Amino acid sequence: MSVSSFPPEAVRDDFVPKEDFFDRDFARAEAEHLWPKVWQIACRLEEIPKIGDYVVYEILTDSIIVVRSGEGDAGVKAFHNACPHRGTLLAEGCGHTKQFVCPFHGWRFAVDGSNVEVVDRHDWGACLKEGDADLAAVQVGTWGGWVWINMDPECQPLDQFLEPMKSRCDKMEFEKLRFSWYKSTIVEANWKTVVEAFTEFYHVQTTHQQMLTYTKDYSTSRAMGRHGWMSYEFGTGLPIGRSARLEPLAEEPDFREYLYEYGKQFKNDLAAMQTERAFQSIQALRDLPADATPIEVLTKWGEGIYQRAIESGAGWPEGLTPEYMAETGFDWHVFPNTVFLHPAIEAVLWYRMRPYGDDPEKCYFDTWSLERYPPGDEPQVEREFHADWRDGNYPLIYTQDFENIPKVQKGLRSRGFKGGRTSPVQERAIANFHRRLRTFLQDSHADDDLGPEPKRDSTP
Ligand code: FES
Ligand SMILES: [Fe+2]
Repeated sequence: MSVSSFPPEAVRDDFVPKEDFFDRDFARAEAEHLWPKVWQIACRLEEIPKIGDYVVYEILTDSIIVVRSGEGDAGVKAFHNACPHRGTLLAEGCGHTKQFVCPFHGWRFAVDGSNVEVVDRHDWGACLKEGDADLAAVQVGTWGGWVWINMDPECQPLDQFLEPMKSRCDKMEFEKLRFSWYKSTIVEANWKTVVEAFTEFYHVQTTHQQMLTYTKDYSTSRAMGRHGWMSYEFGTGLPIGRSARLEPLAEEPDFREYLYEYGKQFKNDLAAMQTERAFQSIQALRDLPADATPIEVLTKWGEGIYQRAIESGAGWPEGLTPEYMAETGFDWHVFPNTVFLHPAIEAVLWYRMRPYGDDPEKCYFDTWSLERYPPGDEPQVEREFHADWRDGNYPLIYTQDFENIPKVQKGLRSRGFKGGRTSPVQERAIANFHRRLRTFLQDSHADDDLGPEPKRDSTP
């Protein structure tokens, strides 16, 4: 079956074909036409600070070594993890090395990928040409503190690929964030089922209903070229307040109560998207008079966070105007397999999803909490892997999602299920994702010049 069996036109803003989530031909099309041609996050720059530090990135049958061979971004290289002699893997996991030495027959490679020893080279005479014994290079780029790789030598430059997300987020200084924790697990669902569980806020009202007492949850979603953008209608700031879905209270509480509840629940149930400095800034609001208006409370809170960030030495990005913050939104899906939530600026939650072998109904799922620390205060973070998420000590909000996701995957296989009926308002980025994915499978360059906000082209 060819990719023409999966036309992009089959996707509407209110309809997503179900075969994308389990059809083995669709997964094979992704293996052939998506993963070898698309930019993807391989690791973070903080994982390879010194020359010789490396991380191995795995995507389906491909294994790629990302290594620091010199100073600065130009010193970051990526190579296929295969010995040019007879294919042996040269590295696993992550570590530090002066040279990569093949464990089979001992060929050696410098960290810039060049071969430094072929044992008994004279055997080959002239038939081993210049470069034949070097490691095969992979395209590499950096943005936001991440190292991105692309196996396609003809790929679009990373900076262009990331637009319009990049220009709307550059000022956030994600490159100054560091891991505060790092957990990976396996989820019993297609990688896109998991991407989409984090690409809409529509599910908050049911899956995370404990948040409604302090969250104005009605959200909005947009197509942004290949990527997706989620936010709230008022544009900027956090959606703090009582959800319109709940019965209004007879008497509106002091606005600070909403913030206390937000701070407490985020600390306990998410353990991300809030620094300790921000939590302290909520406690400090006690000094305000009880009749302070919401805007006064939010302003005081924002000032407290900013001052603590500056005083601690962590610093704060410059030029974050309300207009810029409205454009940067709340949550981005970066095509194809990463999602981040960034309204807290100095504490960002980032996810990555990858297919698991040739089983389209399983995936690897990485959760990265990132924070902005005073230089020298960054924690030494262990990369945790738990094959079963129940062993991973994930806070409540993640476990609520983990409970649901396999049910989504099982249900969408039902003979009685015709396809996803996505909300054209709150889940628009999901439909856009399927349309762009199907287009990419047909031609990886077809959307290279796509405008940032394509017209709503298929809502009935
Ligand atoms: S396979 Fe690497 S040296 Fe033989
Ligand atoms: Fe969720």
